[in-house]
Amino acid sequence: MSTPAASFLSSSPTDLSRAAELLRTGHCVALPTETVYGLAADALNLAALAQVFTIKGRPLLDPLIVHVLDQAALAEVAEPDARLAALASFWPGPLTVVLRRKACVPDLVTAGQATVAVRIPAHPVFRDVLRLSGRPLAAPSANPFGYVSPTKAVHVSDSLGARCPWIVEGGACTHGVESTILDLSVAGRARLLRPGPVTHEALQAELGPIEVVTRAASQQAAQAAPGMLDRHYSPATRVQLFARGATPPTASGKVARLLLARRPDLPAGPTDFYLSEQGSAEEGARHLFDLLRQLDTRGFDLIQAELAEASGIGVAYNDRLTRAAAR
Ligand code: TXA
Ligand code: MG
Repeated sequence: MSTPAASFLSSSPTDLSRAAELLRTGHCVALPTETVYGLAADALNLAALAQVFTIKGRPLLDPLIVHVLDQAALAEVAEPDARLAALASFWPGPLTVVLRRKACVPDLVTAGQATVAVRIPAHPVFRDVLRLSGRPLAAPSANPFGYVSPTKAVHVSDSLGARCPWIVEGGACTHGVESTILDLSVAGRARLLRPGPVTHEALQAELGPIEVVTRAASQQAAQAAPGMLDRHYSPATRVQLFARGATPPTASGKVARLLLARRPDLPAGPTDFYLSEQGSAEEGARHLFDLLRQLDTRGFDLIQAELAEASGIGVAYNDRLTRAAAR
């Protein structure tokens, strides 16, 4: 990891105006969202977009999510779709929708595809910067490609260091896992590409049946959404999973246990770490990436991590842990 050398901005009006001005003049700025921190750039500025890929070490074939203030701003970058009206209650919030793109959106954003991913974030800091900059902002998670996403400002400087020159401090992210991605780019078909805080059930209640395509079925699908790659969101330390409430397998070496909550049925070990007080998957998801990052710096040979029940945000929590454990 490189030495932190980024400049931090606060969420004061003066600093947010500064962040907006930096973005308007083609710089990249890391910003908090309610899911994870994003590395933002003007979505219509090619030089600024190119910097995002360089800073993250991200393949150019991996398209970016465009963040906008509201559905009116969304209509400037994506073709309208009647189904969006049914999604109004999820926005602003942790939902990304893939739609047919408008011609103004650069190929660098879409990886040359005919579609663009768009999200209306809820975080007040991100929204202030959108308003002040007056630009649509492309923002991938602010981490090196393939590594664990950042849920605190310090995670951005820890892993991107001087490569990311500006970071707005906005506290810890509420959800802690990336937005749900719903593909509506084909008429009459809805597909869930990445589970997230907005659940499959909640979306189906509004839209009817939605196909789940979160495991990359083919190389082509993996290119369209690398978040679908089997191995992604991964710490350097090996991760081994065990089912909720199960006894972790016997393992040798220096082993950390990452548990959803205290387990009266297991003798507590000196290297047990707890993601939540009561075992809630919401709290587990909120702290997951922070704890994975902390454990990754402590010289463990293995992190044994407890899965959540596969409902609600537990689906997204399990998805990220499964990809972190893939080799
Ligand atoms: O919560 C989030 O979504 C965060 C915050 C910063 O907004 N962003 C985020 O971006 O997770 P990123 O780039 O780390 O992940 C975006 C995922 C990638 O897997 C990308 O391939 C997929 O979205 N994606 C982007 N545009 C797409 C498109 N047109 N079609 C299908 N997938 C797309
Ligand atoms: Mg990412």
